[in-house]
Order: sequence, then structure tokens, then C-alpha cells
Amino acid sequence: MSTEQQIPDLLLNSGVSIPQLGFGTFQIPPEQTRDVVAQALDIGYRHIDTAQMYRNERGVGEALAESGLDRDDVFVTSKLNNAFHAHDDALAAFDKTLKELHLEHVDLFLIHWPLPKVDKYVEAWGALEEIYRSGRARAIGVSNFEPHHLRRLMDESTVVPAVNQIEVHPWLGNEDVRAVDAEHGIVTEAWSPLGRGAVLEDPTIVRIAGNLDRTPAQVVLRWHIERGDVIFPKSVTPERIKENFALFDFELSEADMADITALDRGERVGSHPDEMNNTGR
Ligand SMILES: NC(=O)c1ccc[n+]([C@@H]2O[C@H](COP(=O)([O-])OP(=O)(O)OC[C@H]3O[C@@H](n4cnc5c(N)ncnc54)[C@H](OP(=O)(O)O)[C@@H]3O)[C@@H](O)[C@H]2O)c1
Repeated sequence: MSTEQQIPDLLLNSGVSIPQLGFGTFQIPPEQTRDVVAQALDIGYRHIDTAQMYRNERGVGEALAESGLDRDDVFVTSKLNNAFHAHDDALAAFDKTLKELHLEHVDLFLIHWPLPKVDKYVEAWGALEEIYRSGRARAIGVSNFEPHHLRRLMDESTVVPAVNQIEVHPWLGNEDVRAVDAEHGIVTEAWSPLGRGAVLEDPTIVRIAGNLDRTPAQVVLRWHIERGDVIFPKSVTPERIKENFALFDFELSEADMADITALDRGERVGSHPDEMNNTGR
């Protein structure tokens, strides 16, 4: 267990434990990031998800440095910028990540998108394997990998990804990808676990929340936890940051779980990984 709030840990294939609940930082403006992440750490979050493309790693690093927490008590993830899949670019970008975060190592480093048209994710993975072997990332993984991307990566390289971070929420179960992840011992991380807020007005979610005297967000996040995925909801709103952390003193019934799972309608809030090829160049 990670904190006094008893956040469960999951074991990654690299032997490292990851807190099942963390804090997401996508779209937190760089100038606000230090304060917002400091609030999250203060509330008890011990897992922060950032990325080179969020341009807010520096704020995350400042909040960590000022928190007084032991480095080993916080799990930190970052992700490779889409522009840097070439081997040497990936190594240089990772060096910059450590500098921005003021850290000697990250706990997890991911390829952010496979970018099928760029077709360099196997090359990028070679760089991540080197980083992993050097000890500067305690685990490496991927994000937005469909089963065919995962299979090719595993066929053409040595280290099996520790995680696959994909879009999952009640309107997008993403069951095929979750099943392939599980088959290979890859932990699924569910990004946009709240569907960026869209699913919170779904009548089924509102009904279950009313019955349990919980908020819709808590019900949705609890559904993810009981399914076994790692989540890191994002909020810049202090009350919501607290609310999203209070998930471990209630449970959903089997019927509630089934009703939420049945909301799957294949609806994404983000891009489909086969269609995303934006390198920002
Ligand atoms: N790998 C990838 O490609 C990828 C893609 C997207 C996201 N991610 C990661 O996943 C994290 C989470 O995903 P996300 O940020 O896209 O979406 P999300 O966490 O599903 O939703 C965030 C949105 O929901 C609102 N919200 C948060 N808590 C709420 C609550 N209790 N009640 C009502 N509204 C609430 C937030 O508003 P306020 O902030 O205004 O409170 C924000 O607009 C990201 O921050 C990032 O770390 C990864």
C-alpha cells in the first residue's frame, strides 16, 4: 500500500510497484503545474503522470523538490515526444526529461504514440531499452499501442512493455487491447478515465452515484479500480482533486459494475492510434 489512504499497488513486469491511483497533468498549463501538483502531493497522491509534450515536466519537478517527500515515495512517469522517435533523438529527449524533472531517474518512461506512418516505434523502443538497462527508468512501456503494434514490438525487440497507457472510460471499454495487455502481463493504464468529464452526466452513472451517495466521478473512478486498471484523473480544481482521491471506502456491486461496463459504445475523446501521426513538425 502506498499511503495512509491505502492506495493499492500493482506489480509491473520489471519488478517495480506502481500505485493504482495517480494524478494526471495533461492540459495543466506550465505556469500552474507546480502549484496544482503540490496540492495533489499534499492530499496524498504518490504517482504523477506527465509527458514531454505537456510542456509541464519542470513544474512537476519543482513540486516534487519542494514537497520534502523521499524520491522513493513518489512514482513518476513521463513520455517521449512524438517528434523524437529516432534513436539518438529519443536518448537526448530523455536526458532533457530528467533535467526538467530534476531527477536522477523516472519510474516509468513511455513511447507516447506509435505513429504508424512515421514507422519508427521499434527504433524508439531500442533507445528506451538502453535507458532501462542504464537504470534511469525503472520500467519502460508504451501508450496508445493497438494489439498489432504490441505484437510487432514484442517480435522485434527484447523487453516486454511494462504498461500500455490507452484511452478507457465507460463509453470506451477498449476491451480488445486490455485483453492483449493482460495476456502478455502488461498493465493497462486508462487515460481520460473520466472521458474528460463527458461520461459524468450519463444517467446510469448519475443513478448509481445517487444510490451510493457518491459523486459520478467517484463512481467512474471506482469502476476502473475494480477492473484493475491504473488511473490518474486530472483536475486543477482543489475539491475535485480531493474527491478523486477518496475511492477506497466504498465498493460497487456486481450489478453496478455490469451496468457501467455495458455503457461501452466505442466513443473516443481522443485520436485513434492508427490514425494519429502528428509529430508536431
Ligand atoms: N497517453 C496519452 O495519449 C494520454 C492522453 C490523454 C490523457 N493522458 C493522461 O491521462 C490523464 C487523465 O486524462 P485527461 O486529463 O485527458 O482526462 P480526465 O482525467 O478523464 O478528465 C479531466 C477533466 O475532467 C474534469 N474533472 C476532473 N475531476 C472531476 C470531478 N471530480 N468532477 C467533475 N469533473 C472533473 C477536469 O476539470 P478541471 O481540471 O477543470 O477540474 C478535466 O476537465 C491526463 O492528465 C494525462 O496524464 C494520456
